[in-house]
Amino acid sequence: DLNYDVCIVGAGLSGAVLAERYANVLHKKVVVIEKRSHIGGNCYDYVDEQTGILMNLYGAHLFHTDSEKVWRYVNQWHEEVPWIRWDHEVRAVVDGKLVPVPVNINTVNSLFGLNFRNTSEMTSWLNSIQKKCDGNCANAKEMAESRVGSVLFQKIFASYTKKQWDKDASELEPLVTARIPVRNDFDQRYFSDRFQALPKHGYTKWFERILRSDKITVQLNTDYFALKDLKCGKTFFTGPIDSYFSKEGLPKLEYRSIRFEKTVLRNSGFFQPASVVNYPEPNVPFTRIVEYKHFLWQKSDFTVIVKEFSTDDGEPYYPVPKKTNIALYDKYKELANEAEKKSSIFFVGRLATYKYINMDRAILLALEMFEKIENRTR
Ligand code: FAD
Ligand code: NA
Repeated sequence: DLNYDVCIVGAGLSGAVLAERYANVLHKKVVVIEKRSHIGGNCYDYVDEQTGILMNLYGAHLFHTDSEKVWRYVNQWHEEVPWIRWDHEVRAVVDGKLVPVPVNINTVNSLFGLNFRNTSEMTSWLNSIQKKCDGNCANAKEMAESRVGSVLFQKIFASYTKKQWDKDASELEPLVTARIPVRNDFDQRYFSDRFQALPKHGYTKWFERILRSDKITVQLNTDYFALKDLKCGKTFFTGPIDSYFSKEGLPKLEYRSIRFEKTVLRNSGFFQPASVVNYPEPNVPFTRIVEYKHFLWQKSDFTVIVKEFSTDDGEPYYPVPKKTNIALYDKYKELANEAEKKSSIFFVGRLATYKYINMDRAILLALEMFEKIENRTR
């Protein structure tokens, strides 16, 4: 029977949260259609057979949020799928040294042979090197230099940006580097959000729990566009917006992707001192190495390292923040607005809105969409 109150395209975070809300709050009959062979979208993780290590298939996923509402939401099933506090740390290899990222006092002391001891010394040094462009930064390079000055920009950000986007920072929108965090203390954490955690049993188990309901049917290995007789009261589309409107004759939206190169090592210890080590220098072809065993202190006689290479083709990961792409997205957005009015279809999530959004933002936007459409607040 192909009749549902709510059809959801995509079993990622956006789709899963909407399915859960419609099933559990409004007792609607929901189908989730997913073209991949698994739920979880890009948060999907699995236990590697050879090593027993829990790892992500589409890159490391660190949950962090300042939102009470999101934190309460993800913890609803705490008994079965608890979250464990995890303060993420990242290092970078620069000038042959392993330094903390974001830049903090130790980073600067190590790279420049300085000996700052406190926040006021670090703050006045930062003030002296920052090339301010207050509200008028023309591009991502100027924006970065306004935060970390030219030398640190060259050492840590210039080539990394080039590798990640295959474009010079001077060709990219200022927003790309607008939120580069810089610390004026010794805080080594990557995020400063109040809540930072990883799901104890992995993201996929958490997704299984939130999708568990008699009201929810999950249909894997199914491309929405190949379905014929599906009848839906409402539809939520979380796939790429340009795939939905592919017959409208607009150019495709531009994305960057990642190629993951996995290596298993026989090593009961660790390959590197942190879960993530960035390689910002131009002579190294990859952007970073992730060692999954670090996450939640896993144990194994092996370790798995994954090198990440930025590429043009592959799964769509990062919208390319250029003016032309943003203008093209606006055209798709107009089509989406018309479709919403005509036929109760809603576009939600990172691919349907052509925006990089973190997990907490994806959850919040899905919750807010549910509340707005159904006129409900939690
Ligand atoms: P997705 O997870 O992409 O889900 C969309 C789903 O729709 C996919 O499963 C797709 O297969 C399916 N789909 C598409 N088209 C169709 C179709 N035609 N028919 C059926 N199904 C279809 N966020 C953080 O907070 N912390 C991190 O550390 C972090 N790291 C990240 C690392 C990488 C490499 C990437 C790409 C993202 C990262 N994110 C991180 C962001 C996080 O992945 C997103 O916020 C989240 O996945 C958004 O969920 P979504 O449901 O909107 O999209
Ligand atoms: Na990440």
